[in-house]
Amino acid sequence: MDAVLWVDQTKLPFHFCVKESKQAEDLACAIEDMEIRGAPSIGAMAAYALALAYAQDQANFEVYWLPRLQRTRPTAVNLFHACDYMLMISKQKQVTAAIMKEAAQHYADDEVQRNQKMGLHLADVLAVGERRIQTHCNAGWLAAVDWGTALSGVYQLSKQGENPSVWVNETRPRMQGGRLTAWELKQQGVRCTIQADAAAAWMMQQGLVDVVVVGADRIASNGDVANKVGTYMLALAAQAHGIPFYVAAPKSTLDEHCLSGSMIEIEHRSKDELLAVTGVDNKGLSVEVSVLTPDVDVNNPAFDITPFACITGIITEQGLWTGLTT
Ligand code: MRU
Repeated sequence: MDAVLWVDQTKLPFHFCVKESKQAEDLACAIEDMEIRGAPSIGAMAAYALALAYAQDQANFEVYWLPRLQRTRPTAVNLFHACDYMLMISKQKQVTAAIMKEAAQHYADDEVQRNQKMGLHLADVLAVGERRIQTHCNAGWLAAVDWGTALSGVYQLSKQGENPSVWVNETRPRMQGGRLTAWELKQQGVRCTIQADAAAAWMMQQGLVDVVVVGADRIASNGDVANKVGTYMLALAAQAHGIPFYVAAPKSTLDEHCLSGSMIEIEHRSKDELLAVTGVDNKGLSVEVSVLTPDVDVNNPAFDITPFACITGIITEQGLWTGLTT
């Protein structure tokens, strides 16, 4: 199989660095290290990794490579959907490495189609008032192979000749909003302003936010949503101010086996993410700077659960989803 290429998201917005590998292990590490992140992109990367693994080490496909990929990150259900899909293809009669490669490509292309459709539905919903949209984390094309989830609707609005503006929460500690969403929106020519996460509720109270839209990492069958930590806080603030709060996600993010948000595993990440920040110096070279002393205790959940009761609606490629089991 040909090499797989990906944008190393840990280097943005300073460097646009494309990596390439033919080794499944490199792709697994890219997911673990968050070079590739965002639920649909994680799923697509896992599908490609399993196609490579099948081509190179078929004997260990099920016993080693499948669990290796499943262990890379726990919360985004797209990863597990992609693994199940590739396992199902591998069990078909007369399967070959070429068929596995086609299956991975199909999986990724399918995500693109779904997200594009979802964006059209979302654009209808976002087309209200002055379209001052608040978002959290990165739910754009970096996170979703192409188009994006939450940002897909913003891109569609912009394509339709509208002029949305986006309040981008920086999204501590990894800054996916400030580093990735703002970069993406600038590439697409969409007006955006980065703000500290703590400013979000105040902006709503000032009447400066028309709608909030975020992506999702896993949606339980009762409509509870796991997404980047801070999402729940935003949903509560939006509810308190009577501002619509939408979640945009393809159906590959729905987990029908999961009855409620309390069943979703929340990833806890290294304390290093809070102790230090990485940026560039005045020569453009990467530097890491400590911002806290290493002797402090740190709590670093990467996701939270927003109960469906706080959500105005969930938009999928099929339109507005009510949260009831499909
Ligand atoms: O930890 P990350 O950066 O992978 O978290 C990503 C998010 O929480 C996104 O909002 C989510 O995956 C939806 S994006 C398509």
